[in-house]
Amino acid sequence: MDAKTDVKIVEVGPRDGLQNEKQHVPTVIKAELAQRLLDAGFPNVEVASFVSPKWVPQMADGADVLKALKKPEYATLSALVPNLKGLEAALQTRTEEIVIFTAASEAFAQKNINCSIDESIARFDPVVKLAREKGLRIRASISCCMGCPYQGEVRIADVMKVIDKLAHLSVDEYDIADTIGVGTAGHAKQLMKTIGQTVDLRRIAGHFHDTYGQAIANIMASLDAGVRIFHSSVAGLGGCPYAKGATGNVASEDLLYLMDGLGLKTGIDTAAVVQTGHWISEQLGRPTASRAGRALYQKACA
Ligand code: HMG
Ligand code: MG
Repeated sequence: MDAKTDVKIVEVGPRDGLQNEKQHVPTVIKAELAQRLLDAGFPNVEVASFVSPKWVPQMADGADVLKALKKPEYATLSALVPNLKGLEAALQTRTEEIVIFTAASEAFAQKNINCSIDESIARFDPVVKLAREKGLRIRASISCCMGCPYQGEVRIADVMKVIDKLAHLSVDEYDIADTIGVGTAGHAKQLMKTIGQTVDLRRIAGHFHDTYGQAIANIMASLDAGVRIFHSSVAGLGGCPYAKGATGNVASEDLLYLMDGLGLKTGIDTAAVVQTGHWISEQLGRPTASRAGRALYQKACA
């Protein structure tokens, strides 16, 4: 984390937000969205996903989006990579950080990546080895850490088992995802505290979807437990194509409003993010999902 900031916020809207979009989003709009977010000061923007275009067609133009960007020095460009084929594609671009991804639920792993948790981790071995040789940063994302759309309950012990299985890969960060946004604050705090007994919490990120309106409470609980990295999506865009009914991540505007109120430095220009949230909502033809975004935009226009 940058010494001048108290928390690191990873903007995942261009990837987690747009991957679920039913309408075609032109490459120029994707690139402008990512550029605006980079310019607003996010230290890390998840821009692309090198997955099968048959599985997630919306992400097929990731290489072109990356090519179009002017990257500020302070920022890192990230992309999802499920296997070696994905890494090879990412290596042809300016991707600086890859996100390998699995799940704490066996049923979700099958639906999302068409293999078991163990098979996914076996696939990561050569991916991580090559990514390290090429000097990339690596995050490991674990879906369904607080509940699964197919299997229901997911125990903290199940999350710990996956962290244990990933340990030999020595990734830089673990992204702990509440994919369907079912978790509540007590659970989030217990989850993060338990993880903190095994892993340095400076390597843990909270990735909370906001389906049940609990993401901000879960972030507060995770902050209390010692977590200092959070993911968010401008205008609350998104959801996972393999988690029916799940909405987007916590909106970046809501998260920034909380951080600004707590006096925690993020290095991000909240007003610029509010304008970007308004702009992308207009492009997609629907209102923003961010309550703070809406209120701050109206205030700025008054
Ligand atoms: P598969 O069908 O089991 O793989 O898919 P396969 O190895 O048998 O390959 C099948 C075809 O896909 C072949 O093409 C491969 O070449 C191609 P064909 O011969 O049929 O023409 N292929 C690829 N093409 C491009 N890039 C690749 C790639 N790999 C294979 N990397 C696979 C397995 C993992 C590829 C597939 O299941 C997949 O792409 N899944 C991605 C699902 C996804 O993107 N989900 C959303 C992102 S995860 C998420 O949102 C959760 C997160 O936000 C955290 C949270 O909130 O939980 C991160
Ligand atoms: Mg997600």
